[in-house]
Formats: sequence, C-alpha cells, structure tokens
Amino acid sequence: MLLLCSFLLLITSANAFFVPQQQRSPLTSLEATRTIGIFGGGTVGGGIVEILTKKAAYFKELTGSDLVVKTICVRDANKKRDFVIPEGCTVTDKYDDILTDPDIDMVVEVMGGTTDAKNIVFSSLKAGKDVVTANKALIAMYLPEIEETLANMDKPVQFRYEAAVCGGIPVIRSFQSDFVGDEVSMISGIINGCTNFMLTEMDQFGRTYDEALTEASRLGYAEADPTLDVGGFDARSKLKILMRLGFGVEVPEDKIACRGITDLTKLDFDYAKMMGGTIKLLGVAERVEEGKITAFVSPCYLTKEEPLASVSGATNAIEVSSRNLQSSTYIGQGAGRYPTANSCINDIIALAKGDKSPMPFNPLDKVTEYVDDYSSTFYIRIRYRDGLGITRQVGEACEKVGVSIHSILQNPITRRDDAAFVLITEKVPLQAVKEACKAMEEFDWCNGLPFYMPVISENWVEKMSS
Ligand SMILES: NC(=O)c1ccc[n+]([C@@H]2O[C@H](COP(=O)([O-])OP(=O)(O)OC[C@H]3O[C@@H](n4cnc5c(N)ncnc54)[C@H](OP(=O)(O)O)[C@@H]3O)[C@@H](O)[C@H]2O)c1
Repeated sequence: MLLLCSFLLLITSANAFFVPQQQRSPLTSLEATRTIGIFGGGTVGGGIVEILTKKAAYFKELTGSDLVVKTICVRDANKKRDFVIPEGCTVTDKYDDILTDPDIDMVVEVMGGTTDAKNIVFSSLKAGKDVVTANKALIAMYLPEIEETLANMDKPVQFRYEAAVCGGIPVIRSFQSDFVGDEVSMISGIINGCTNFMLTEMDQFGRTYDEALTEASRLGYAEADPTLDVGGFDARSKLKILMRLGFGVEVPEDKIACRGITDLTKLDFDYAKMMGGTIKLLGVAERVEEGKITAFVSPCYLTKEEPLASVSGATNAIEVSSRNLQSSTYIGQGAGRYPTANSCINDIIALAKGDKSPMPFNPLDKVTEYVDDYSSTFYIRIRYRDGLGITRQVGEACEKVGVSIHSILQNPITRRDDAAFVLITEKVPLQAVKEACKAMEEFDWCNGLPFYMPVISENWVEKMSS
C-alpha cells in the first residue's frame, strides 16, 4: 500500500488535481490530532504557521487536539520563507500532496485567486476535509456553489471564512450568531484598508493619488493587483458577503453599483474641506422599503459628525443599524499578517473544538428583492472652460432628468481653461445623476465626465438649509 501511494505521488504532475475517495475514519468532535494542509505560505499563511507553532501547547489544552501542519503548498517550493517551517512539515508545489493525503482533515486556503483556489476549495470539501479560507473574491464569486456543495455532502464538512471580510475584525461570526434575532436595516463600512489609507494620506498630508498608492503598496496594504482595491472591487466582494449574512439576499456582484477612488482629485478634498467634512470609500447596503434592499460601493462625502469620518489609515470599520441592537460599530485591523492570521486561527480552533456551523451563510430571504438604484444627496464636480451660460445649461440638463440642485460651490478660479465647481443635489436617484452627468459632458465647455459621489449625512440638505 505504501509503495502504491509513493507511485501515485510520483505520477501526479505538479498542480494537477486527482482526488480519490479517501479512507479516513469520520471525525469525532475531539480528535487527538487535527492534521492541517495549508495552501499559501505568504503574508497570511506565514502568520498562521507562526501562531500555531507559538501557541501549540495552549491550543492542545484548549481543544484537546494536537494541531499539526503536515504540508504547505506554495507556488515556488524552493523560495526562502520569512517564517520557520515546523518540524516534519513538507513544503511542496503539488496540490495533490494535500488534496489526496487521507491524513489531512483540515485545509487552510490562503493563496488567493479564483481559479486554482476554487478547485482546491471544492476538491477539499468533496474529499470530506474541513476548509478555512481568507479568500473573499472566491466566496463572493462562488457563494451559491459552495452552499450547494455543503448541502449535498453525505457527511457534513465545515466551511469557515472569518478572515475573508475585514481581516482581523470578527464580523462574520457576529453576523452568523449575534443578529439572528434582530433585523438589520443598514450595513455601512470602510471595508478596504488600502483605499482608506490612501484617502487619509491625500486628505491629511496632501499627497497625490500616485504617491498615496505607492506608499500603500510599500506598506503591504495593496492587493497583488491594486485595481481590486482602487476600483472598489475588493470592497464590493466583501459587501456582497455581508449582504448575504445581514439581509439573506444573494446578489450577483456585478449588480452592485461600484465606483472606486481613481477619479478623485485634490480638488475634491479641497471642496470636502470647504464643506467641513471628508471623503471615504464606503460599502453601503440598506433596506430602503419593506422587501427591498439596495447597495453601492463609492467614495462618499461625510460630515465630521459621522462616526466613519474619523476612521483613518488602513483601519476598517463597519456600522450596523438594526431593530434590536440599534447601532453597533466594529472597528479594527482589516488586513496584515497577524490580524488576518488571527481570524484564520480562530476558525481552526473552532473546528478543532468541534464547533459546528451548519449554515455558514445564514438562510436565504426569498421575499426580499434587490434593487440596483439608490437615492441620495449627491456631490457633483464639474470641470469646465470658462464661458457664458454655463450655469444655465447645467440647470437645464439637471432639470430635464429630475435632478434638483440644492447649492453650487466654487473656489476662486485660477485657470480659465480648467476651472471647477460643485453642485450639491437634493435627494435624487443615482440613475438620474448619471444621466445628468452624461448630458453635461456633451457641452463643449465641459472638461470630461463630471464626477459624482453620495453625501452621507442624516438630512444634510435640511441641516445646511436651516
Ligand atoms: N494579506 C492580507 O492582509 C489579507 C487580508 C484578508 C484576506 N487576505 C486573503 O488571503 C489570501 C492570501 O493573501 P496573502 O496576502 O497571504 O497573499 P501572498 O502574500 O501573496 O501569499 C500567497 C501565497 O500563496 C502561494 N500561491 C499563490 N498562488 C499559488 C498557486 N497558484 N499555487 C500554489 N501556491 C500559490 C504563494 O506562493 P509563493 O510564496 O511561492 O509565491 C504565496 O506563498 C488572499 O485570498 C487574500 O485576499 C489577505
């Protein structure tokens, strides 16, 4: 048998998938040893190994099990690691060294991506191995399929993903257990640390967009592909997962209005200061009326009084409004080696203790409907070449699509060929604002598509008018 196993390992090519039915005895709630295979030995993977090694004796006492990392799978098995490989642990570049190992009963996927990582997660679940992952992109893309796979298993397997949303903040567990008797009406948060760091640098230290992005990458806050951060897509994946947990709605990611921070300029921060507030990239999901939910990811103008306005640097924060708890805020480190590894460790320990989560995503609400438009007060910044009749034409373009203007702001003009002013609208639908901006772009004095973002403040227009 041993010879046959060695032969199989030899003929499976690097990173090929071959997952036979495995002969592992079913887990009892407290196994003497939980044998772990980790995909990924980078920022998060290294942190997980370090914590497991450092606290091995404590974890044994806590769970009754030895937690043994048997295999770590990486892209380049020869690369020097910045953490100590545990004694007896093999570093490999072959997926099957974990997937087909019948001793490994828990797989930790912290390599990222949505192709190979998808195969790894599904193959592991189907092979009866519990899965812990930090991969929000994968979950957001394949949530229904993961749910279906879990529901169709002959023997239950566990799927845990605390680190996938806001790294170190225990928000997934809160939604799985602390709001079950409550009714969530709004989730609003700073859920991407990289962009919050960049916006803080631009606002408080006057850095340009490019300078802020370079610094965020240097400090390890940006994803390998920063488009996911600055384009708002990382925040959108997290918001989608939170919406499923908080509202029970399953919304395809591309139905959630998403605008990143790439179009923001120093001008916008100047105007935000003039208005007494700041700009943050927020993910917001809200119950707009009975049976209807809306959501968006966008830079937003916030007044200083808003709790999220003072959350700076790479910190993440989520505000939840609900019927029973009313308002609760979760704040902490949304990324980084130890905060993220900490959440993965909590999942690993829960599994070793035998904790069960039969429905990792909470039940679906089949009645509530998602609507992909929302209404808000909007900030619209228009760049223009100076000339006659501009405000009249802007007023007409807005009136045509039902956008009511509350006020117009303008800093002193320094360049007649590239000046800017800002409109603040009354509460109007996003689609109408988009149409108004498109119409304005057609005017020959308009320098590019006007930039818009929601103004987040309870009754901002009324406050400004009083
Ligand atoms: N970093 C954070 O703060 C954070 C926070 C929350 C969630 N996450 C999520 O955690 C996951 C990992 O992030 P990370 O920051 O640890 O990434 P990372 O530092 O880039 O590490 C990725 C690891 O996975 C390995 N890997 C990548 N592609 C592979 C492939 N195709 N086959 C085998 N191994 C592969 C890499 O191997 P090599 O080392 O040999 O290249 C590396 O060890 C991602 O899903 C990310 O979204 C990260």
